[in-house]
Amino acid sequence: MAGIINWNELRKMAMSGLRHGRRDEDPIKAWDERAKKFNERAMRHKKLTELQIAKMHLDPEYSVLDIGAGTGRLSIPIAKKVKKVTAIDQSGGMLALLEENMQKEELDNITCLQKRWEDVVIGRDVEPHDVVIASHSLGMLDLQKALEKIDATAKRYVYILGSAGLDSWMNREDDDAKFWKDIFGQNEHLHGWHWDYILLYNILHDMKIYANVEIEDSKFEHCYEDLEDAVKSWSLMHNIPPDKTDLLKEHLVKILKENGEGTLCYRRKSKNALIWWHKGGETKSESW
Ligand SMILES: C[S@@+](CC[C@H](N)C(=O)[O-])C[C@H]1O[C@@H](n2cnc3c(N)ncnc32)[C@H](O)[C@@H]1O
Repeated sequence: MAGIINWNELRKMAMSGLRHGRRDEDPIKAWDERAKKFNERAMRHKKLTELQIAKMHLDPEYSVLDIGAGTGRLSIPIAKKVKKVTAIDQSGGMLALLEENMQKEELDNITCLQKRWEDVVIGRDVEPHDVVIASHSLGMLDLQKALEKIDATAKRYVYILGSAGLDSWMNREDDDAKFWKDIFGQNEHLHGWHWDYILLYNILHDMKIYANVEIEDSKFEHCYEDLEDAVKSWSLMHNIPPDKTDLLKEHLVKILKENGEGTLCYRRKSKNALIWWHKGGETKSESW
């Protein structure tokens, strides 16, 4: 089927048509600004993280490369199971917090590299690793090129975490769809579309990589100190233009629920996708 639909170009078109598609935004600055809030939220998702790591083939002798490692939600617990981890991220702010988290856990086997994956040269910046992972970090315009580099860097396994369908922030319920449409325009409520694992999967298939996919239901919860904290966090995480702050406030008042502990929570059901493939070397799974 390769060539009938060019999934990579289709995705590029979808992304370049979006105001929210981070086209105009400086992604490094944006993640530097989000780092503190992101760290507070992400590092709380311990149970989810444990379940995700349990799906990975990790060996005490392995090296693991984490692309778009953020503040180390996965790198930190993985470093406790393997020989060494290389954490790459474009954002110095995110990596600074990863290093703090590493010190708190008394780990010394994570090397941080501040670089965009697009700019990384294998053999110069990074050597091949046994396992390469990327979790919610493959927003590059040229996804195929990024995937080719990932495949070339992995000696044994690749694991990519993403969402199935629109992600947990978008369009799960009618109110959400209307809100995103009001914020970003007529068609732009679909701006989460390019994150759907199915595009990545189709690109891999055209690259003759026939990956495994596991879809899991997940409950997604984010809690905020108060309305002001929620407004600040959403504005940063979703690039909500300042002139839409009132609309955002109105929406949050409607959708956030008090949790009885004095915080306001956003809860949605979501579906996570784990896409993985085996590169070679010894496998722990049985062959047919
Ligand atoms: C949503 S966070 C995910 C963090 C972490 N992987 C996790 O699952 O908690 C996305 C991270 O990917 C990084 N990122 C996005 N695009 C990148 C790129 N092209 N090169 C390097 N890092 C990138 C961002 O800076 C951010 O820290």
